[in-house]
Amino acid sequence: MNSLKLSVQNLSKSFADLKVLDNINLSIKNGEFVSIIGPSGCGKSTLFNIISGVEIQSKGEIFIDGVECKKRKGETGYMPQNPSLLPWATVEENITLGLQIKKQPVKIAKKRAEDLLKEFGLFEFAKNYPATLSGGMKQRVALLRTILFHDDFLLLDEPFGALDALTRTTLQIWLMRVWRKTKSSILFITHDISEAVLLSDRIYVMTQRPATIIKEVKVFLPRPRKLENLTRPNAVKIESQLIELLFNKNEIE
Ligand SMILES: Nc1ncnc2c1ncn2[C@@H]1O[C@H](COP(=O)(O)OP(=O)(O)OP(=O)(O)O)[C@@H](O)[C@H]1O
Ligand SMILES: [Mg+2]
Repeated sequence: MNSLKLSVQNLSKSFADLKVLDNINLSIKNGEFVSIIGPSGCGKSTLFNIISGVEIQSKGEIFIDGVECKKRKGETGYMPQNPSLLPWATVEENITLGLQIKKQPVKIAKKRAEDLLKEFGLFEFAKNYPATLSGGMKQRVALLRTILFHDDFLLLDEPFGALDALTRTTLQIWLMRVWRKTKSSILFITHDISEAVLLSDRIYVMTQRPATIIKEVKVFLPRPRKLENLTRPNAVKIESQLIELLFNKNEIE
């Protein structure tokens, strides 16, 4: 049995004359949490659009569960960078929408949604409309919607990017709890070095456009993780290694 959930091989992408991704190679094992960190505009969201089948690559292959997968729509739970909830639908309706698209019976979809909402502390808001939720709650609803659609393999594009530091930390811890339950394979984009270290088993570091992967960093910290783990010498060392890779040392000295 192949234990790789995803393998991206020699992947390149250009939009007309703009070369965005240049020979990207990466993989995720089943159940692994892997992050991608890289400068703004380097092509991270483009990579997710390709893996999820929204865009087509210019070159290269993508394997899911060991099999080359050319049409990838529906193979991943994709939470795009700015997910939107339908303003006229309740929390419950918003998160079951994906299942209706997948043609699951409404009754079963509702039951699964109810279980997830209960388990992850949103049940009392099931009948609320998005306008009545806080920013952090909206992100949690969007995440649950993604998980309900496809809990096996998730692509999360900066899910906490727009949140304040306190809410972000709460949701990072919440996501780790969700992940322990779902045992999903997760590919996660972030700009935030501490977030990457706290959450990930491995981190891929990307360069400016045209983006290549310059480094794969392994995070050897015990799980379940706590915020305090970030002060361990090992975590501090990884953070400074990432800072050095992401910023041109000469420019900040
Ligand atoms: N559909 C498209 N057509 C043309 N150019 C595109 C398209 N999608 C993305 N681009 C360009 O590709 C480059 C990479 O964009 P992308 O959104 O992947 O970056 P990113 O790494 O996700 O940035 P950020 O960290 O700011 O979210 C940008 O220069 C963008 O303008
Ligand atoms: Mg992006």
